[in-house]
Amino acid sequence: MAGDNSISDMRKHYNNLDSALIHGGVYGDITTGAVNTPIYQTSTYQQDAIGQDRGWEYSRTGNPTRYALETLIAELEGGVKGLAYASGMAAITGVLSILKSGDKVLISSNVYGGTFRVLDKVFVNFGINYEIVDTTDLVATETVIKSSHGTVKAVLIESPANPLLTITDIKALAEIAHRYEALFIVDNTFMTPYLQRPLELGADIVLHSATKYIGGHSDVIAGLVVTNNDDLAERLAFVQNSTGGVLQPFDSYLLIRSIKTLHVRMDRHVENAEKIATFLDNHDAVNVVYYPGLKSAQGYEINQSQAKNGGAMISFELADGYDAPKFFASVNLIALAESLGGVESLACHPASMTHASIPKEIRDKVGITDGLIRLSVGIESVDDLIQDIDQAIAAAATV
Ligand SMILES: Cc1ncc(COP(=O)(O)O)c(C=O)c1O
Repeated sequence: MAGDNSISDMRKHYNNLDSALIHGGVYGDITTGAVNTPIYQTSTYQQDAIGQDRGWEYSRTGNPTRYALETLIAELEGGVKGLAYASGMAAITGVLSILKSGDKVLISSNVYGGTFRVLDKVFVNFGINYEIVDTTDLVATETVIKSSHGTVKAVLIESPANPLLTITDIKALAEIAHRYEALFIVDNTFMTPYLQRPLELGADIVLHSATKYIGGHSDVIAGLVVTNNDDLAERLAFVQNSTGGVLQPFDSYLLIRSIKTLHVRMDRHVENAEKIATFLDNHDAVNVVYYPGLKSAQGYEINQSQAKNGGAMISFELADGYDAPKFFASVNLIALAESLGGVESLACHPASMTHASIPKEIRDKVGITDGLIRLSVGIESVDDLIQDIDQAIAAAATV
């Protein structure tokens, strides 16, 4: 035997996340030695006798390829259990489904529109209520929890939040939520475990739209959840199996494959984003830039303390005399599209796209203006991207 590379022993050979991305979870295939996780494209498993299975019964309950991914994301986020779902929304639905009628969820004032919608249009029908708070304001958030007389059972945030990239102090809010016995849930989609690990900062549950950076290639819809609490793990797994929104084996394989390059992709995404944010910040035709990696950004210091850097999402508004729709009509290399986190750069209009399900009066109140432009910075040549943005801004001039 060439060395100690058995699956269970792999973890003792590395100390860094960069290696875990490649060797973590269930490494390879113990039966054949295949270095890649096989795609177990099966719905069921033959049992040796009644009551004697080989660890697998039915693929909604468990599938070896999905299990490899679930084990990997749990390791990367530092939790005890990972769960993979058919989409980010299925993941969020799975998490919220552990709540009961009469419970209330606090959400931060700019979360993904779909998160708002599932609470506003689906969970309210089951007696689970929500309230929107500016979680960057810890005093205001604690006041809301306190005045809710024990009904707030969960606080769900994004940091950076979609689309204004606001930063919430994760550690401080975890302490507040726990003081009132509320679960603290962090949607870590914009950061990934490579840039931010919310469980280490006190979160009970971390979740992802893995459709984004974790998938990274705009070719799969998926969701992931990790918890560091055994009781929560059991409840989440029960709901996942009962409601059935699981990720398919092939898509699980695609995510395992993508995660192997997460660090390399993220480094380049961020390098490009930092240059583009600085370019926009210095541009006369740009009114405001929202990017947590800029020293002038809201929550810059907090973000520096809880994340590796500012990530690769940027939002901005053009100055008077420039028209956002014209900007979108003029980008060439950058595609006008929903979603984010893929290798290709995308531009989106949150007010009419990702956040259209939030009523205009709430959008205006939280600052999601009709002129807001959101960029998902890809890993193309940054010079080409800046050239494209520059010419689109020039074409957006109304005078
Ligand atoms: C921050 C965030 N969370 C959750 C979701 C929902 O994920 P999915 O589209 O994979 O269902 C999205 C989708 O854009 C998102 O941006």
